[in-house]
Amino acid sequence: MTTSYSDGSRQLQHIVNGMAASDGDGVRLTRIIGSPQLNMFDPFLLLDTFESDNPDDYIGGFPTHPHRGFETVTYLLNGRMRHKDSAGHEGVIEPGGVQWMTAGKGILHSEMPEQENGLLKGFQLWVNLPASAKMTEPKYQEFPPRSTPLEQREDGSLVRVISGTTALGTSGPVSNDYTLPLYLDVQLAAGAEFHQPVDTDHNAFIYVIEGQVAIGEHSLAEKQLGVLTAGESVQLLASDQPARFLLVAGKPLNEPVARGGPFVMNTKAEVMQAFEDFNNGNF
Ligand code: CO
Repeated sequence: MTTSYSDGSRQLQHIVNGMAASDGDGVRLTRIIGSPQLNMFDPFLLLDTFESDNPDDYIGGFPTHPHRGFETVTYLLNGRMRHKDSAGHEGVIEPGGVQWMTAGKGILHSEMPEQENGLLKGFQLWVNLPASAKMTEPKYQEFPPRSTPLEQREDGSLVRVISGTTALGTSGPVSNDYTLPLYLDVQLAAGAEFHQPVDTDHNAFIYVIEGQVAIGEHSLAEKQLGVLTAGESVQLLASDQPARFLLVAGKPLNEPVARGGPFVMNTKAEVMQAFEDFNNGNF
């Protein structure tokens, strides 16, 4: 049975299924935000999910490429990825760990699987930066799994907190004053309820990793993204099976967006400048 909330909780506005795509050196993925179905969801520019135990689908990885003007967030559920950049920074991202990279004025980096077989599963999210921060120095917030708190609830549910604060008061390690993001990886026990306050003016979505969840009268199935209406909180219910999902929210920037591949600026001229700077070796 589902409950209808009239208390300002967010409802399901629409469902996005994502499209098969390929990026980097032939990595097969599903593009959920950043596709014709959902071009962007301010401040989120792109959401890719990858999941395969066939190395042919991921072994090519994402060789050296540039970014400017936004943030890339890599979060893994299975497998390992090695990250390297033009500033000499290098590290391995592991399941439950996160790399939140502020590309700012520009960085060249590569993200390669740190495995030759086995399951690789995870997400890359692009979060826009406001005009005032697009040309800042690049920076990282990188946290291994032991630094991203795993909240254990009485009903057996688990919440991995990357960014923001849960209803029970657990805070994630990533801080971001631009879009004040909430990024939770929630594993609900069968039939469990979930309640999370979300700033009323922030945009929020749910991506179901496993199982099925009910939001008000509607349900969201595995591998579906649900765009939520505005509201004060998110209320949902797992079906009679366990469910796992991401809940992501952030403050919309409400600025013009000009995209050019790996560069996301406010105007076309700024995107052209990014290509010129990159071609002149100024990254
Ligand atoms: Co990249």
